[in-house]
Amino acid sequence: MVETFKSNIQISDFDNEGSVSARCPSNIALIKYWGKREPQIPMNPSLSFTLTESYTETELRFKPKASTDFAVKIFMDGELKNDFSPKILKFFDRIEAYLPFLRKFEFEIHTHNTFPHSSGIASSASGLGALAFCLTDLENILGGELSENEKLRKTSFLARLGSGSACRSIYPGITVWGETELVKDSSDLYAIPYPYEIHEIFKGFRDSILLIDEGEKQVSSTVGHQLMENHPYAKTRFEDAKKNLQQLIPVLKSGDLETFGKIVEHEALSLHAMMMTSDPYFILMKPDTVKVIDLIWSFRKTAFVPLFFTLDAGANIHILYPNDYDFDSFAKELKDRISNKKKIIQDLTF
Ligand code: PMV
Repeated sequence: MVETFKSNIQISDFDNEGSVSARCPSNIALIKYWGKREPQIPMNPSLSFTLTESYTETELRFKPKASTDFAVKIFMDGELKNDFSPKILKFFDRIEAYLPFLRKFEFEIHTHNTFPHSSGIASSASGLGALAFCLTDLENILGGELSENEKLRKTSFLARLGSGSACRSIYPGITVWGETELVKDSSDLYAIPYPYEIHEIFKGFRDSILLIDEGEKQVSSTVGHQLMENHPYAKTRFEDAKKNLQQLIPVLKSGDLETFGKIVEHEALSLHAMMMTSDPYFILMKPDTVKVIDLIWSFRKTAFVPLFFTLDAGANIHILYPNDYDFDSFAKELKDRISNKKKIIQDLTF
């Protein structure tokens, strides 16, 4: 139990009935979180861009009840989703110590994403972030006295207990999660807004997501994190992530795109290297993933354009580039060389 986040609400039989709503974007990590220990503590610090166009909108409806179980129904775009319940119940179980009123209400969660399902955009980050925002709103309605800053910090703390990377989505811009002497005030318990200077070029940076594979994920991130527990290269990987963060900090200040690309692409490939060398092992990239990476590299070399990629735990490619780069010329090249069935979703980072 982390005392700082304990609720000061007096538990009684509430008669409050109503709803709260929140919106939370997804994020894309430049320095990846892969590997954790209980309770959802990252093995290395991570850093991400919070997206702007890809977000979840959630309404949390609450009604007092007498029974002592958790009661929650989840609706996505109006449709009841019973298969989401185990994840949310586990989340409630983890956060109950910090929100002691959870068993006092019957909840309905109505949620909508602005981006397609299985799009390569992390819906768990935006989804759990939005729900955590609703829950801290509710805490204040019930008599909690969280100031705006305390509320954001507690929201990030709670979101982390639902999905680690969700804690980084609570703040716009660049955020950092994971305690490290490299970033002042960083914590394993919640994310913080990146506290150092950021070059203009990274403001309005774009992320165009190329959908290579829209199917279900072959390995859930829960399993992926577990596979790091006995991984032969885990120690090196955690040190490497830290080293990459250390190198990224001056780059975020100077705007040195070439070094930015080197660090970010190395991180993405390291994440996949961990999956390829775990037991059991996986290849989450598809042939087209590699084809696009190759195309980005050759295009960058011949056309001298600032295009970089990163990957999540899947086959889809996040293509990163400054706001003033005309993406259409690369999009045309992609269309000519890669099957034109692939979809591109564009997002502004911040
Ligand atoms: O938050 P989780 O448990 O879904 O893990 C996310 C892991 C990556 O998306 C692959 C990397 C990251 O830092 O976001």
